[in-house]
Amino acid sequence: MSQFLSNCSADALATAAQSLMEGSLVAFPTETVYGLGADATNALAVARIYEVKGRPADHPVIVHIADLKYLEQWISDIPEYAIALAREFWPGPMTLVLQRSKLAKDFLTGGQNTVGIRIPDNSLALGLLEAFHKLGGTGVAAPSANRFGQVSPTTAEAVQEELGEFLADTDLVLDAGPSEIGLESTIIDCTGQLPRILRPGAITIAMIEEVTRLKVSKLFENESDEFMQVDTRVSGSLENHYAPKAKVFLDEKPVDGSGLIAFESVYTPDGVIRLAAPKSVEEFAQVLYSALREGDNQNLDSIYIAQPTGDGLAIAIRDRLSRSAKGR
Ligand code: TXA
Ligand code: MG
Repeated sequence: MSQFLSNCSADALATAAQSLMEGSLVAFPTETVYGLGADATNALAVARIYEVKGRPADHPVIVHIADLKYLEQWISDIPEYAIALAREFWPGPMTLVLQRSKLAKDFLTGGQNTVGIRIPDNSLALGLLEAFHKLGGTGVAAPSANRFGQVSPTTAEAVQEELGEFLADTDLVLDAGPSEIGLESTIIDCTGQLPRILRPGAITIAMIEEVTRLKVSKLFENESDEFMQVDTRVSGSLENHYAPKAKVFLDEKPVDGSGLIAFESVYTPDGVIRLAAPKSVEEFAQVLYSALREGDNQNLDSIYIAQPTGDGLAIAIRDRLSRSAKGR
């Protein structure tokens, strides 16, 4: 069982950074979801992430850094448009996939020649990363802190529920309350002439196009706006991801005894258990994963979700939900 730390002081963050240096795992909050961190240059520590998550070894992990000045050592090349994106949206819910340097080893990148990098926008995460850099650390590898294929955790309690039994006494879970955004970062492949979205998120196509003045392409695209599975190495692109234990139904009439997640304006039929009633798309994203978890904690067989329509963040929500619904 790991240690659980709330209200982290600077001293506690320095201790957590030291634990990372020594090869332990530290789960930490970000504005998107909670991550399970390890020293990104330590093969054994990163191997433990895979073990604790039960994740296949060929899936790349994102490297988290505290500031743009730590970017250069991880990459061998960066196009102008990616620099513009980094300046505009970091710290923030965006991961850039760039050509890797020698520092980004195969055990991080799943053998690909690229590396995913992100500066998270959360004061505790940034404090931890700064403390880690101060000790000479170059970056923290961190996937979402859930078992492979499950729903990402948006609270420290959810991390504990997911991974507690797999973590060691020397590992830590840092608590800073619920994640603000609640959906994983937008992943943008910046290795081509044009930016390409690998996973939609809170940094939307319109935002990227405005900053880069370039046309954004989507890797997983059919005639609608759904992002389809193409490359299994982008683990978030696996069809059965983000899946609770309950069966998920989208835009269907809820049956007796099932759970319901829908905008506040949608009425709850008799006998249906309301799991969330968000008032906006932002709130929908923020509460979605905890509502799915709540459905599982109540042992519901099925959860019905009335999806938000429209562009922007709603695309990211529908992307995750279409995979949740294929889960079981
Ligand atoms: O919001 C987030 O991105 C959270 C927080 C903790 O930062 N992290 C996260 O990590 O969602 P993870 O590992 O659960 O999902 C990262 C996705 C995976 O689907 C992985 O395959 C993809 O990023 N990825 C990482 N590096 C990549 C690369 N070099 N090329 C393509 N995809 C990559
Ligand atoms: Mg994940």
